[in-house]
Amino acid sequence: MAELIVRAPAKINLHLEVLGLRPDGFHELAMVMQTLDLEDRLCLQARPDAELTLSSDRSDLPSDGNNLIVKAADRLRRHVGRLDLGASMRLEKRIPIGAGLAGGSSDAAAALVGLDALWNLQLNRSELLDLAAELGSDVPYCLVGGTQLCFGRGERLEPVPLPEPPRLGVLLIKHPDVSVSTPWAYGLCRLRRQATYVEGESAFEQRRQALRQGPLLAALQGHGPWPLLRNDLQTVVEPEVACVREGLVLLRQAPGAEQVAMSGSGPSLFALFSTVADAERALEHLATPLRDAGFEAWCCRCSSSGVSLDPLACADR
Ligand code: C5P
Repeated sequence: MAELIVRAPAKINLHLEVLGLRPDGFHELAMVMQTLDLEDRLCLQARPDAELTLSSDRSDLPSDGNNLIVKAADRLRRHVGRLDLGASMRLEKRIPIGAGLAGGSSDAAAALVGLDALWNLQLNRSELLDLAAELGSDVPYCLVGGTQLCFGRGERLEPVPLPEPPRLGVLLIKHPDVSVSTPWAYGLCRLRRQATYVEGESAFEQRRQALRQGPLLAALQGHGPWPLLRNDLQTVVEPEVACVREGLVLLRQAPGAEQVAMSGSGPSLFALFSTVADAERALEHLATPLRDAGFEAWCCRCSSSGVSLDPLACADR
């Protein structure tokens, strides 16, 4: 039977600014997200019954209705009123879990795009984006990918105009035994930083405009030096999570590192380099201390798109 494979890439946050609280209880955010070439793969096959089944190469992931992939599949078939549609789904997990790299969100986006194709539903982009936003704040970004400003809960996207993906090398590290819960990190942020929150649409828009016109976008467009990267969740997570502190110390020692920061709600950390070769040299240099401290590490490139059907793997098998 035909098998369809969807690539689901990871993202990092080059900027994560918590502006304030929203009436829906979420935080109003101003972020810059960047897709990396570190990817999960979701393999899909239609089923003649109405079952949605999920298996994966990671035993610590739920494979029932609690998995965002299964939720995405069910939400999609309900949207088109076709509860008779079934699929066998297999996840090859490469993106670390609970890491702040949007692995789960990207897998959900991959399920939407892949099942839309597998079931021949032909939803338009805006329908897919609306379903994505219902599933999670980062899911719309994962559908689109590339270098994007993300506002609102994270679902309002504005592309950063770039002729090609930034030619950065990214050294990414994560301790395999530590994960951070996103609601916990935002809850802590509210507890510690609420006095710094601003209120109202005009104050939010002022901050968005400062980001659009600020030094980070200029650096991405090749017009200036890298500013210090801002992640407001790092400010609150770093004092609580030892491996974040240790990892930041190690990455800051990397020769040629332009900037170092935590991604999303952590605990994954990254350093930016002018080229991928520089990132690879830094990884060689730090291999022993990273291993001794128990970190896993990846050298990545930036890429310009989100989830995509794998053209080579879509043939009949
Ligand atoms: O949307 P998502 O399911 O990814 O959000 C997970 C949790 O992160 C939310 O339940 C909320 O606690 C927190 N969050 C937030 N503000 C956002 C996004 C997420 O407070 N903009």
